[in-house]
Amino acid sequence: MNPVYKKVLRCYEDIQKKFDFSQFRPEVAIVLGSGLGDYASDIKVVGEVGYEEIEGFPVSTVPGHAGKFIFGYVGEIPVVCMKGRVHYYEGYPITDVVLPVRLMNMMGAKVLFLTNACGGLNPEFEAGDFMMITDHISMFVPNPLIGENIEEFGTRFPDMSHVYRPELQQIIRETAKEQEIKLHEGIYCQFTGPVFETPAEIRMAGTLGADVVGMSTVVEAIAANHMGMKICGISFVSNLAAGISPNPLTHEEVQEAANIAAPKFKKLITESVKKFGAVL
Ligand code: HPA
Repeated sequence: MNPVYKKVLRCYEDIQKKFDFSQFRPEVAIVLGSGLGDYASDIKVVGEVGYEEIEGFPVSTVPGHAGKFIFGYVGEIPVVCMKGRVHYYEGYPITDVVLPVRLMNMMGAKVLFLTNACGGLNPEFEAGDFMMITDHISMFVPNPLIGENIEEFGTRFPDMSHVYRPELQQIIRETAKEQEIKLHEGIYCQFTGPVFETPAEIRMAGTLGADVVGMSTVVEAIAANHMGMKICGISFVSNLAAGISPNPLTHEEVQEAANIAAPKFKKLITESVKKFGAVL
């Protein structure tokens, strides 16, 4: 058996010992980015499993990313939330970075809602804004599908024409309008991190069509798309990107901004997910 597939299977077998999926099958998987750590307060929680309890599961080392799966209901929708994700810059193989998304698909999730904090470079964006991801650019990050194709997950050459599903985008767009939350739309570009980008790199990303930059999300979307999951994503613009912001960037600034925006961010996610029944 493919060792990457075997590792996901083993994690699934292990988590089954800690959570009873015969009683609860998540349909939507939500990855919580920086600042959304307390999202569980919006969920009717039915169970939790700490990442460290799952044998072989990659555990994040970033402050503010302490990790666990939270199972529960958003409205009527059964969800699994990742509180904390692993990033490529932490030193994990790229297949470990996407392992959690593959595992959530194995649990039953057919929809993936990705969130993150990012730097804004579109001149119309301000720190504190939200952007719905309509497409992405992978910048120097290894593709998680490199290696022998895992047929159990999907095809060798996946189509990437509609990674972020138009029907989910429409729900999020309408929800933002109803909730009177300003929502941009645009292209997310993933760099490896852990450094913030240089001003020259930000100019390059802008020339290539990016609206925001970050250190996550794209590889997870690639793995989820491979498995045929329906994907959507919202970025929180925690800061203006390097060279646009007059100040040096810090992780603390990103976290502080995200904490301030958390109530709005939570509302946008919750009210959108409640309507996902229509696409499940
Ligand atoms: N660059 C990359 N990742 C980020 C940024 C940024 O400016 N802000 C938050 N995550």
